[in-house]
Amino acid sequence: MATTQDALYRRIDLDLSWSERDLPERVRTKHVHRLHPYLGKFIPQLVEALLARHVPKGRVLDPFAGSGTTLVQALESGYDASGADVAAFNCLLMRVKTREYNPFVLESELRDALARLDGFEGRRPDGSVSRFLRDWYAPRAAAELLFFRSLVEDYEHADVLRVVLARAARSARRTTHFDLDFPRTPQRSPYWCHKHRRECRPVGEARRFLRRYSLDTLARVKEFARVRARGRHATVLHGDARELDFGARFDGVVTSPPYPGLIDYHEQHRYAYELLGLEECRELELGKGSSRPALAAYVEGIAAVLANVRGSLRRGAPVVIVINDRRELYPEILERAGLRLEERYRRHVNRRTGRRAGEYFEDVLIAR
Ligand SMILES: C[S@@+](CC[C@H](N)C(=O)[O-])C[C@H]1O[C@@H](n2cnc3c(N)ncnc32)[C@H](O)[C@@H]1O
Repeated sequence: MATTQDALYRRIDLDLSWSERDLPERVRTKHVHRLHPYLGKFIPQLVEALLARHVPKGRVLDPFAGSGTTLVQALESGYDASGADVAAFNCLLMRVKTREYNPFVLESELRDALARLDGFEGRRPDGSVSRFLRDWYAPRAAAELLFFRSLVEDYEHADVLRVVLARAARSARRTTHFDLDFPRTPQRSPYWCHKHRRECRPVGEARRFLRRYSLDTLARVKEFARVRARGRHATVLHGDARELDFGARFDGVVTSPPYPGLIDYHEQHRYAYELLGLEECRELELGKGSSRPALAAYVEGIAAVLANVRGSLRRGAPVVIVINDRRELYPEILERAGLRLEERYRRHVNRRTGRRAGEYFEDVLIAR
C-alpha cells in the first residue's frame, strides 16, 4: 500500500521540512546566497537550525563548502567559520560572499566598470578567441565579456567583478531557456521554448547581464553587511579536504558532501574556468561516477576527509552531515573515519535551490 502523506511525515523532522509557502525561493536565496547559481547547495535556514541545535558558539568547519552556505550562515548566526573546497571557482565565490567591504569603494568600482562598459562599442577582441567562447557565445556577447574581463584587474575588488563576469557569462551562453543547467550543444537559432511556451531566441549579447548582475551583487553584499554578526570572520581554503590543514580547532562541522555520480562540480561552472583562467583540480573531486570501483573510491575518499577533519575538532564537537544516502554508504564511511553515529533524522526537501523540482528526502547524520 502506498505510504500516506501522514505516515510519511510522522517519520520525518517537520521542523526541518519547510514548504514552499514557509520558505519561498526569495528567502532561501536571500542576500549573498544568490550571487551566482550553484547546483547542489543546501539552504541557509537548514544550516541555521542545525547550528542552533548542535553546535555551541565558536568556530564551524565545512570541508565541502561549495558555494559557502555554511560560511555565510555561520557569520549571520554569530560564529567564525572555515570552509574548504577543491574547486577554485567555489572558493572565489565563497571569498566574495564572506569578505567585508567598504561599500562606498565597492559601489564606485562597480559603477566605474559599468560606465566603461557603456562606452565599449563592441569592437572585436585583440588576439584569438578561444574555441569555447566561439562556440558558446554570439560574437557580440563574447566581445563584451572579454572587454569586461580586461577591466577586472584595475580594481581593488577584482574578485567581485570576476563573479559578476562569470554570472553574466552563464546567462549569455547560447542555450535554450529550459536547459541552462546542463546545456549539451550551443543553440544558434530560434527554438520552441517549453519554459515560456513560445519561440525564443538564443542570447546575442552580454552587456545587459553584466549591468544587471553588477547592481544586484552590490545590493546583496550591502544587505548581508547589515545582518552579519560583528567581529566574526570566515576563512576559505582551496584544496583537497583529505589533505588540507584546516588550521584551527573547531566546535562543530556542518557539511553536505558530494554524492556519487550526481554533479560534476567543476563542469557546472565551465564558463568561469574558461574565462577566468582558474586552476582546475578535477581529478581530486570526490563523487565522480557510480560504478562499483567509483563507489569504493568514494567511501575511501569521504572517510579520509572526515578522518582529517576529526584531527581539527575540539573534544566532543559534533559532525553534522546532510546527505541523501540512498546507497547506505555512510555507516561504513563513519566507521572508517573513526566517528560514531549518534543521531539520524530525515527531512523532506520541498524544492532544493538550483535543483530540479520533485519529491526528495535527505538525512541529517550527527556523529562524534
Ligand atoms: C554538495 S557540494 C556542497 C554544497 C554546499 N553545502 C553549499 O551549500 O554550497 C559538495 C562540494 O564538495 C566539493 N568537493 C569534492 N571533492 C572535494 C575534495 N576532495 N576536497 C574538498 N572539496 C571537495 C565539491 O567541489 C562541491 O563543491
